Amino acid sequence: MTQLGESITRIDARAKVTGDALFPGDINLPGQLWMKVLFARRPHARIKRLDVSKAQTAPGVVRVFTARDVPVNEFGLGSKDAPVLNGDEIRWVGEKIALVVAETEKQAEHARDLIAVEYADLPPLTDPRDAMKSGAPQVHPAYANNVIKHIPIRKGDIAQGFAQADVIMEGDYHTPYQEHAYLQPEAGVASIDDVGRVTVVVGGQWVHEDQEQIAHALGLPLDKVRVIYPATGGAFGGREDMSVQVILALAAWKLNRPIKIIWSREESMIGHHKRHPMWITHKLGATRDGKLVAAQVQIISDAGPYMYTSPKVLGNAAFGATGPYAVPNVHVDAYTVATNNIVSGAFRGFGGPQAHFAAETQMNKLAEKLGIDPVELRLKNVLRAGSLLSTQTPLPGGNVSLPQVVERCAKEFGWKGKGTGGTQRNSRNTQHASFDSAPLRSGRVTGFGFACALKNIGFSFGYQENAAATVELHGDATIDKVIVHHAAAEVGQGTHTALAQMAASALGVPIEKIEMIVSDTAQTGNAGSVSASRMTYMGGNAIKGACELALKKWSDEERPAIASYQYLAPPTTNFDPETGKSKPNVAYGYVAQAVEVEVDTETGQVRVVRVTSVDDVGKAINPRMIEGQIEGAVAQAQGWTIQENFQTKDGRVLTPYFSTYLIPGILDVPDKVDSVILEYPDRDGPWGARGMAEMPFIPLAPAIVAAVHDATGVWCDEFPLTPWRVLDELKKKN
Ligand code: MOS
Repeated sequence: MTQLGESITRIDARAKVTGDALFPGDINLPGQLWMKVLFARRPHARIKRLDVSKAQTAPGVVRVFTARDVPVNEFGLGSKDAPVLNGDEIRWVGEKIALVVAETEKQAEHARDLIAVEYADLPPLTDPRDAMKSGAPQVHPAYANNVIKHIPIRKGDIAQGFAQADVIMEGDYHTPYQEHAYLQPEAGVASIDDVGRVTVVVGGQWVHEDQEQIAHALGLPLDKVRVIYPATGGAFGGREDMSVQVILALAAWKLNRPIKIIWSREESMIGHHKRHPMWITHKLGATRDGKLVAAQVQIISDAGPYMYTSPKVLGNAAFGATGPYAVPNVHVDAYTVATNNIVSGAFRGFGGPQAHFAAETQMNKLAEKLGIDPVELRLKNVLRAGSLLSTQTPLPGGNVSLPQVVERCAKEFGWKGKGTGGTQRNSRNTQHASFDSAPLRSGRVTGFGFACALKNIGFSFGYQENAAATVELHGDATIDKVIVHHAAAEVGQGTHTALAQMAASALGVPIEKIEMIVSDTAQTGNAGSVSASRMTYMGGNAIKGACELALKKWSDEERPAIASYQYLAPPTTNFDPETGKSKPNVAYGYVAQAVEVEVDTETGQVRVVRVTSVDDVGKAINPRMIEGQIEGAVAQAQGWTIQENFQTKDGRVLTPYFSTYLIPGILDVPDKVDSVILEYPDRDGPWGARGMAEMPFIPLAPAIVAAVHDATGVWCDEFPLTPWRVLDELKKKN
């Protein structure tokens, strides 16, 4: 009856499969004009002269907008430190300089190319490690020494900790950019609705945040702006900061005409932020029997010139610097630094993947050095209920299932013996005779790797997490129809289906009775962002609360029974500025992964043969959708680790097409992904659910790198593991 925990068909599946579902680029409004953006396409320059006169008089052109046309010319999620249109100092390639609005897209494009800009190019600052040095030129007036944020964490006594260590492992790691590569590039339409609101229909992750930033930039009250999300083709964090939202609204508001824009793939690639590259120096100390005693970590992340979500991503990286382990003595310094590179921001895992890559590779190296199996080493050190984080507080929510996910992953994978210690290397036919994969071809060696992680649920770090929902119960003797108002953005992850399942369960009605009014600031309360794996948890708790209130009204004979509820999550605290002491997060999810890879020692190619991913999701609302998230995260993380190679030179993007930026295709993804879902309930999650969309991304890179080591004997402290990098490493070894 309630269908909670069942793999029901997604409520949006049919419309998406038949093509009935409209994505922003599919929507056309009568009388619409088209917009094109003039991007700076240079990393650092001063605009000396900007002449739009030729563009203004070109065929079909209605208006050209520049910086002086934006009432309050600033935007940004973390800080409004970026101009909507830049008429002054260009700080990265994706700065928008002018907008051309014309009758057709072609005319807008033609006129855009008639805009004359005279630049004085300036040297770009492209290495955050140089940007931090004293005397470096300042990228942005708000950030002295180019440090946007520094997070220190101090726990215990680091010198004493290392003094207790029998072994010390030191390593320098680098993690690369990643492009979100969502199916649907940025697109949208804006118009003035029948009550005079500028209405933007666009893909995004948080309608109310978009509304706030649009209203701010246009100098309008909030209720003059409406944001609606139709079907959206993926996000992964890439739609957290504004792309086309403000510029669409600006043109529609000023011209009182519907405006449409669709970015090309190339515009999308240079126009939105990327996953932060990070440089991580990691020193880890342990006793002979494998107990961690000290960790000293420095993290430098490349933010690009504006804040976006960099401090929040850095918070997760700082927090993840010690991996999912209880370490008594910790000394972390994490910095996010302004440069003239492409701007960095949110991307699935949100700093967790970078930090865990270093932490987990260190653990795998330590296991080898100590001659302890990597699974056993983890079980000696993973956080358990009551263990103190580096922030000196325990994990919330009751069940801390790291031991369980690690053990289960080892069991399901068939992990035997010393793994990356080398004893399994090239011994597949003896120790792993039960594996049913295809036989090895010549020149190919097999290896096995293991890693685990924890992922926070929600923004937290002192932010009061919240989400609203409204539920209407219609009928007389029985509930015939339920209308759920919820702002959660459906970006392909299935949130509307999960929320509908939770509403049906809370009300005890079949899902067919649930109607959803979604993602419209005019009709839904603020649910927060679909980020940080938070919506099932926060949105689900809001739905649950609203359903309970509505049922109460129903039992009091109210018809229709309508109730709104705002869920407020347990409070958290921000890092103490000196010690990092805090209760950083509301909830966590736990994950472990084991992988088998095949390395071709002649070509350097790495192939992931199979992955076992064990994820504690608290409660699986829809198991098949969770498997989809796990398989998707594995494919995306594999791309980041092996194949995707976002290249820049002097701040310019060299790989702005899918012909040059290669993401995994069907022949690249693992032959087999075994998704194992565990359900140790979170005390405060709805029906015990934890968020889970990011966590299966996090351990894969270190697991693959460990498996490549197991196969070949080389450690890759940097990736992507492109054939030439792997061959170089193999050559260095021989
Ligand atoms: Mo995200 S990377 O929290 O959308």
